[in-house]
Amino acid sequence: MLKGKFVVIGVTGGIAAHRALDLTSTLVKAGAEVHVIMTRGAREFVGPLAFEALSGNRVHVDTFSAPPGWRYPHLELARRADIALVVPATANIMAKMAYGMADDLLTTSILAMTCPIVVCPAMNVYMYRNDIVQENIKRLRKLGFILMEPGVGRQACGDEGPGRLAAVEDIVNMIKKVLMPECDLAGSRVLVTAGGTREPIDPVRYISNRSSGKMGYALAEAAVNRGAVVHLVTAPTCLEPPDGAKIYYVNTAIEMFREVMNLYREVDVVVKAAAVSDYRPKTVSDQKIKKSDSGLVLELEKNTDILYELGKQKTHQILVGFAAETEDLIKNARQKLAKKNLDFLVANDVTQPGAGFGTDTNIAKLIFPGGRIESLPMMDKLELADRIWDEVVKLRHGKTK
Ligand code: CTP
Repeated sequence: MLKGKFVVIGVTGGIAAHRALDLTSTLVKAGAEVHVIMTRGAREFVGPLAFEALSGNRVHVDTFSAPPGWRYPHLELARRADIALVVPATANIMAKMAYGMADDLLTTSILAMTCPIVVCPAMNVYMYRNDIVQENIKRLRKLGFILMEPGVGRQACGDEGPGRLAAVEDIVNMIKKVLMPECDLAGSRVLVTAGGTREPIDPVRYISNRSSGKMGYALAEAAVNRGAVVHLVTAPTCLEPPDGAKIYYVNTAIEMFREVMNLYREVDVVVKAAAVSDYRPKTVSDQKIKKSDSGLVLELEKNTDILYELGKQKTHQILVGFAAETEDLIKNARQKLAKKNLDFLVANDVTQPGAGFGTDTNIAKLIFPGGRIESLPMMDKLELADRIWDEVVKLRHGKTK
C-alpha cells in the first residue's frame, strides 16, 4: 500500500527506540522506501546496523557526511520525504522541534521538511505529564505537527500511566490516513458475506437462490481499496475473489453461521450481503434420490437467521443488512432493520430491471433507524459498495469520537 512512498524515520534516544525497528520492517513490507536518521541518544539504545539491515538503506547520523550523490543530507531527505516520523520522540527532541533548533541531522532535516511530520512521544509518565512537555506538545500541534497519543500502561522503568510508544499498528494507520485520505477504512476490520448458500438434498442436488455474489465481492473489493482488513465469507459463486481479502469458503447456512460467529468478536463492521437459505432439507439423502412415479415431498427445517443472532450479540460492531424484496419494500425493510438490530439496511426491489440478482448494477434504498431513507439511482455494484462504505465511515467516526 505504501509503494513508492519515501518515509523518513527519526529515531531518538529512549528505551522505545527498539520498537522503531518493528515499524521500519512493517513499512518496508508495505512497499515504502525507508530512511532512518538516528540521534546520538538513539544509538546508545540500538545500533544503526539493525536499521540498515531492515530498511536496506544506510542510516543517516551526521549532518556533515552525505551518502554518495547527495550533497546535503538534510536537504536531500527533506526534499524526498513524503512523510516523516519521529519514533520515539523524547521530551528533548520535542522541545528542540517546538523552538526550531537545528543542532543535529534530525532537527536540521525537520526544519527543512515540507511534508507531514508525525510525532510519537514516549517517555516516563512524570516527564510526559510535566507542564513544560505538555506546553511543547500543544505548541507542536499548533505548528502543524501530527502528535500521536502515547499508550497507557506499565513502563520499562516500572511506573504506570501514559508515556508508552503508540502501537506500531496505530502509527501505520496514521501514515495511511495522512498519505492516502481515500483509505478511510484503514484500521477497520470488516466482515462481508456473499453469495447464495446451498442446502444439500442428496449428493447431487441442493436448494439455493439466484444470488451471484457480485454485491458481496464488490463490497469486499471496495473495502480493501479503502484500507480495511477484510474477511470475506462466501457461499459458492463463479467470481474471482478480490485480492487482499481473506477468504472463507462455505456451502451451507450452517457453515456460514459458524465462520461468521468465529470472526464476529474481532471485527468492527459486518455487511451481510449473502442470500442465506431460510430453510434446509430436514434429512440429506446419502444416495442420489431416484425418481418414482409419484411426486416428491421434501421436508424443510429452519436455518438460523445469522444476522438476527449478530444483532442480539452486538457490542461494538456496526451491522449492515440487505433485503431483497418483491413487494412492500420499505415496510419489510423497516421490520428487518428493527428486528435484526441493524445500523442500516440496503433494500432493493429485485423485480426492477437493473436491480437484484446476477446484474452488474443495483437500485437500492438505504434505510436507517429513525426513519431516514436514502434512495439511490441505478449504479454499478462497486459504486454502490462505496456508497455503503461511506455510510459506515460516517458511523465509525460517530462511534469513535
Ligand atoms: N440473513 C441471515 N440469515 C438468514 C437469513 C437472512 O443472515 N438465515 C440476512 C441476509 O444476509 C440479509 C438479511 O438477513 O442481510 C435479510 O435477508 P432476507 O432474505 O431479505 O430476509 P429474511 O430475514 O430471510 O426474511 P424473508 O426471507 O422472509 O424476506
